[in-house]
Amino acid sequence: MSDLKKGLSDAVAAAFVAAGLPGDLGRVTPSDRPDLADFQCNGALAAAKIARRDPREIASLVTATLANDPRLAVAEAAGLGFINLRVSDAALADRANELAADPRVGATRVDKTRRILVDYAGPNVAKPMHVGHLRASIIGESIKRIYRFRGDEVLGDAHFGDWGYQMGLLIGAVMDESLFVKDLVEQTNRRVSPLSPTEEASTFSALSQHVSLEDLDRLYPMAAARGKEEPDYRDRARKITAALQTRTRGYHLLWRHFARVTRVALERDFHALGVDFDLWKGESDVEDLIAPMVRELDEKGLLVSDQGARIIRVARQGDKKELPPLLVVSSEGSAMYGTTDLATILDRKRSFNPHQVLYVVDQRQADHFEIVFRAAYLADYAQDGALEHIGFGTMNGTDGKPFKTREGGVLKLNDLIEMTRSKARERLREADLGAELDPDTFDATAHKVAVAALKFADLQNFRGTNYVFDLDRFSSFEGKTGPYLLYQAVRVKSLLRKAEDTSQPAARITVGEPAERDLVLLLDAFDHALSEAYDKKAPHFLAEHAYKLAQGFSRFYAACPMLSAEPGIRASRLSLARTTLRQLELALDLLGISAPDRM
Ligand code: ARG
Repeated sequence: MSDLKKGLSDAVAAAFVAAGLPGDLGRVTPSDRPDLADFQCNGALAAAKIARRDPREIASLVTATLANDPRLAVAEAAGLGFINLRVSDAALADRANELAADPRVGATRVDKTRRILVDYAGPNVAKPMHVGHLRASIIGESIKRIYRFRGDEVLGDAHFGDWGYQMGLLIGAVMDESLFVKDLVEQTNRRVSPLSPTEEASTFSALSQHVSLEDLDRLYPMAAARGKEEPDYRDRARKITAALQTRTRGYHLLWRHFARVTRVALERDFHALGVDFDLWKGESDVEDLIAPMVRELDEKGLLVSDQGARIIRVARQGDKKELPPLLVVSSEGSAMYGTTDLATILDRKRSFNPHQVLYVVDQRQADHFEIVFRAAYLADYAQDGALEHIGFGTMNGTDGKPFKTREGGVLKLNDLIEMTRSKARERLREADLGAELDPDTFDATAHKVAVAALKFADLQNFRGTNYVFDLDRFSSFEGKTGPYLLYQAVRVKSLLRKAEDTSQPAARITVGEPAERDLVLLLDAFDHALSEAYDKKAPHFLAEHAYKLAQGFSRFYAACPMLSAEPGIRASRLSLARTTLRQLELALDLLGISAPDRM
């Protein structure tokens, strides 16, 4: 099954070929002038240049061939040589019925299934997520869903930042602050035998009384700052890091406690956002691979000694800017952020052998990834081009600067979600919605409205651009917002509920009114939007489609009475409404948004 755009492109291409011209010029796009045509083709202009003929003559030749196509009500040459096409009502109705019968509502699958790994969110131990992680989570989740839905075998991995120097800093800082923890860690460090499971459990519960995520969050920036200023402090952190990496019992236990408390909070935030991972791997999971990897890199002749460190040079001739080398082993002998990334590539190759790895990470890490990827290609850990950084811009406040709290601090994700939820409650009441819901359902609905507001605000922009987060605007039920989309979906649901008692199953859709035509053309455009989102790893194509579809439904709802129409028309329109709802909910789901049943 193909959409009208593809089907007509084939027909126009054949008409070009019949006129002795290249078929690829027959590409059809939605018309810029919907008042004149549904689709247009500008190929005659290009063909005229190649063949040195009059574009208007070519356009006329092509439209003459198309005159017999039963799908077209009008095929005419216009202006300087444009080809305008208007689809017949019958062809639109056929397409609508095809979509109505299709469980995927027009979405095609990829021809060849590939294994795709999406590395996204990238939360870190000891740091609650802040708004910076929001974009990575939202965009990554949507890309994961889009790829999976198109038929690929997809794994999403959180790539938990849980290893390295920061951990040493934090262990030192926590031991400074709590004598209890200090004693416990030192005693455990001295132990020769491992802790039994019961000992372990009681130690973790004791640690919970003394070290919370809030403590870690407070201590980490302090320790990081001291590490920069005081060489002794830094050295101690490095020593602890090295001891942690050789699994010194006490440090290792405390570190596991950090990871546990962080993860509880992270999971709460991810759950609230409707984000979930297939793999929850940490940087620490590749620790064992690092030493053999370094040996192998050495054998391959890739490692170069440089002032006591070991690096891989990745700069290439013709580079526009100078790329620093990958630092594999620091002069203190420790593994770096790039080292764990490289080892992770190796690990993923062995465990999943992905055709492609998509790293959904802030644009500011572009150089980091370019360096790691080049090193991986040199080491033959991945096929050229298989690793791709899917960068994104920052989320700014209404002042145009990176989003901050009123006090100027970094806003925690959990607080942002709470803030948006309370705004959603307010908006629902303002709009007189949800009044008949019981309190729990009302809260759950407000939560869905909040998630829709947050996600759609993000996903409606091309990911590469920065955007301004304006809670007032994004939580409105009017305009290009998540809540508007939910409102339209709920409108269809309530319409269908009202009609249910007398509705005829699977009625044939007929098309006559302009609003019906427009709605079918919009439904037809879904697959194209989805393919664009897939090819360009850019969910905004799908967000745009969902928005247009919701608007198209709204116009249809206003122009075409349903419940009061005569039975045949009523059944047709209800079926069109139901198909629209299915496609809208599907598109929303691929964006990670879900609509409530009532509002
Ligand atoms: N934890 C990192 C950060 O907060 C992001 C990780 C991104 N993924 C990766 N494979 N490096 O900056």
